[in-house]
Amino acid sequence: MSVDSVISATAALAGPLTLIHDADKAPGWWRSAVIYQVYPRSFRDLNGDGIGDIAGITEGLPHLADLDVDAVWLSPFYRSPQRDAGYDVSDYCDVDPIFGTLGDFDIMMAEANRLGLRVIVDLVPNHCSDQHAAFQAALAAPAGSPERDMFIFRDGSGPEGHEPPNNWQSHFGGPAWTRVIGPDGQPDQWYLHLFDSSQPDFNWDNPAVHAEFERVLRFWLDRGVSGFRVDVAHALVKAPGLPAWGGRADGGSSDGFPGHEAPMFGQPAIHDIYRAWRLILDEYGPDRILCAEASVDLPRLAHWVRPDEMHQAFNFPYLHAGLDVYRLRSVITDSLTVLDAVGAPSTWVLSNHDVVRHASRFGYNGSGPRDGDGIGPADQQPDTELGRRRAAAASLFMLGLPGAAYLYQGEELGLPDGIDIPEGMRQDPTFARTGGERLGRDGCRVPLPWSAAEPHLGFGSGQQPWLPLPASFKELARDVQAATPSSHLNLYRRTLAARRELGLGRGSLAWAEEWCTGSSLGFVNGTTLVLMNLNHEPLEMPAGDVLLRSADPESGHFLASGETVWLQLVRGDTE
Ligand code: GLC
Ligand code: CA
Repeated sequence: MSVDSVISATAALAGPLTLIHDADKAPGWWRSAVIYQVYPRSFRDLNGDGIGDIAGITEGLPHLADLDVDAVWLSPFYRSPQRDAGYDVSDYCDVDPIFGTLGDFDIMMAEANRLGLRVIVDLVPNHCSDQHAAFQAALAAPAGSPERDMFIFRDGSGPEGHEPPNNWQSHFGGPAWTRVIGPDGQPDQWYLHLFDSSQPDFNWDNPAVHAEFERVLRFWLDRGVSGFRVDVAHALVKAPGLPAWGGRADGGSSDGFPGHEAPMFGQPAIHDIYRAWRLILDEYGPDRILCAEASVDLPRLAHWVRPDEMHQAFNFPYLHAGLDVYRLRSVITDSLTVLDAVGAPSTWVLSNHDVVRHASRFGYNGSGPRDGDGIGPADQQPDTELGRRRAAAASLFMLGLPGAAYLYQGEELGLPDGIDIPEGMRQDPTFARTGGERLGRDGCRVPLPWSAAEPHLGFGSGQQPWLPLPASFKELARDVQAATPSSHLNLYRRTLAARRELGLGRGSLAWAEEWCTGSSLGFVNGTTLVLMNLNHEPLEMPAGDVLLRSADPESGHFLASGETVWLQLVRGDTE
């Protein structure tokens, strides 16, 4: 059936349609994939030391295959002092002992292959750990040496260089510069770290840095990974001369999305790096992909996914649109439009390891916690039921969109953030660097509950988990939900199965104008109408067969407040 005939067939049922995006016929598994983010330290702890490990991932993979995702993305498991939960890498080509060994990784890859799951790993090229051999060599070498030139060392300003070289701030709070003691024992130069002081930024003006990362790419490609999620992919190149910046540390302006005005983000030369990487991936065949974690606004995001650069980029504007129907509509329209123009698929995402989980974010009427700040016991508390109901609605809505979708481990269980985390257990550097003013991201990193009857809810059978699992996780445990047909988990399963069967990931998108009101949003993908009601009042549904709904089917032909439905408008046999 052509787009035209679908549109005329569905128009009668769904009212006027505004077509934004045509069905996607280009090759490439990733264009419509559902990719599940595994956060290794919180997934499953097989050796019982309280921290998730690679063997635990291997053990859990059948559950992910059963959920019917296409790929998993693993957050960093490399050698690391774990000052930023592994985003501070001291050896890019080895597994940290807390997670296992390279042998464990190979076993996990074999199991993923057996199950038909692809594996994407996290590449952290903006900075490494201060324990990385290259940084240790830089500390031991004098100013101006090739060792120092791997990083961004500068003399201080002010009398005797006592002040940082410029006014840049770290993302995690405090100055973005730290002064070192030189090989002679005297106060010496300063080095740049956009994140924690234990995460020195590499100098991407130096070809030796390029060569090192090309080696790292090949190392993991040779081990069979399907690609890389590229950490802070907008930050690698800094503006020449490192000019002062008066704006926010994330590069944002008060009215705009982060990451394009500031001298530490979005510099044009970044794109040459990704073009070179793309050539390397292409040597390994057309199935290996790069996905940018680039916090930039939508028109600019398209620059990261031009045909000779990366394959996809996270759609953070979508995550930030929350449940605001006007913002959602404009972000979806803009995403599909600007990405179609460069031939790239859009991605969609609601949660990850850096933001409050959407089941908690959506438990607030009005503004909830700021990204990365977390929720503590003293803060206004989210309404758990409301949050979970709206999270189901938002997920069902997102998974109806054409393009690729990223899921964050535990969202299929409708998990909320952990709130009662003792301060002494908090590990996000944000907490310490802001003197506790910002709690940080530990709340969304709490370990997963696997089975209600086991110690630590089946996360691990040994020591206390590195962060406590809230009591409420018991009834949300995977085994409880697997046995409950109306559970969040079973909604995800049905949704992913239907999405695959209907080919929605490769489908089209037309706004169903009659259903796009100030408090509801509806679109047609192929012959499926996806409709989300955010009004306080129930909404009478249009005609059509109900395929899936995110809440209680008891409400009959009315869509409850905070509910999404998938309706089949045209049966396949009308062809
Ligand atoms: C990215 C990661 C985040 C990390 C930061 C520094 O934003 O997602 O977890 O702290 O980069 O590597
Ligand atoms: Ca472990």
